[in-house]
Amino acid sequence: MFDQIFGNVIQPMPCTVDVDTAGLRADNIPRHIAIIMDGNGRWAKAQGKVRTYGHKAGAETLKTIVRAANDLGVKIITAYAFSTENWKRPVTEIHFIMELLSRYLTNEIQDFHDNNVQVRFMGSREGLPGVICQKMDYATEVTKDNTGLILNLAINYGGRAEILHAVKGIAARIQDGSLSADAIDASVFEDNLYSRGLPDPDLLIRTGGDQRISNFLLWQIAYAEMWTTKVCWPDFTPAMLVEAIASFQKRERRFGGLIQK
Ligand code: IPE
Ligand code: IPE
Ligand code: MG
Repeated sequence: MFDQIFGNVIQPMPCTVDVDTAGLRADNIPRHIAIIMDGNGRWAKAQGKVRTYGHKAGAETLKTIVRAANDLGVKIITAYAFSTENWKRPVTEIHFIMELLSRYLTNEIQDFHDNNVQVRFMGSREGLPGVICQKMDYATEVTKDNTGLILNLAINYGGRAEILHAVKGIAARIQDGSLSADAIDASVFEDNLYSRGLPDPDLLIRTGGDQRISNFLLWQIAYAEMWTTKVCWPDFTPAMLVEAIASFQKRERRFGGLIQK
């Protein structure tokens, strides 16, 4: 059914953006950008198409944006692809998203690999089809030595579930005696998060017009700068990414302190 609707064409990674021509300062590119890729369904509906059409288009957009971000010097993109709450959706939509994910992980990995992108995942494996987990492991393994942009895909991810997962990991270590409660600090906690080893996002982008977090990276976005747009994810372009980064570059990040003038 998937092939009948969409065909099985693999698109090459399109588009590049040059930081020198984009009007950005090369010395202040956000190292880590987190993206809530929202609005796929509304985008499709606005065109009289089924919601799933928007998910297919959104998957293409991610490829374009990863390439553009890499060219701009961004080091990490964490992209929210499927939340722990998205299981509440109709089973037909969930099946479609899983099928799309499965194909994406097969068809796009070589392209990411050829572009030196390191693919990682964050989220729970619980409830995910086995074949997707296998493809996630394969993608991680194949791209693990790549030195370009890290694409961190949040699949079956929820911020609260992640925090609970971390708490359970820490509790187990206290129980087996390998950690004392007094030794718990932010660094121990972060070592138990799915994002272990990655710096916190500097910039959080949400498309689709809503101004909320929707259970994304609750711990990690403590001091992220936010940038939202009404544009739905399938219509998000490299030029909009540049716009978001330009906005980021105009901000003064204080982290609770004061800037010495
Ligand atoms: C985001 O787009 C993708 C997923 C949550 C899987 P939506 O599917 O939420 O699209 P809207 O927000 O309903 O338009
Ligand atoms: C957030 O979008 C999740 C993803 C983009 C994967 P949702 O569409 O699930 O968020 P809500 O329901 O509007 O808060
Ligand atoms: Mg949505």
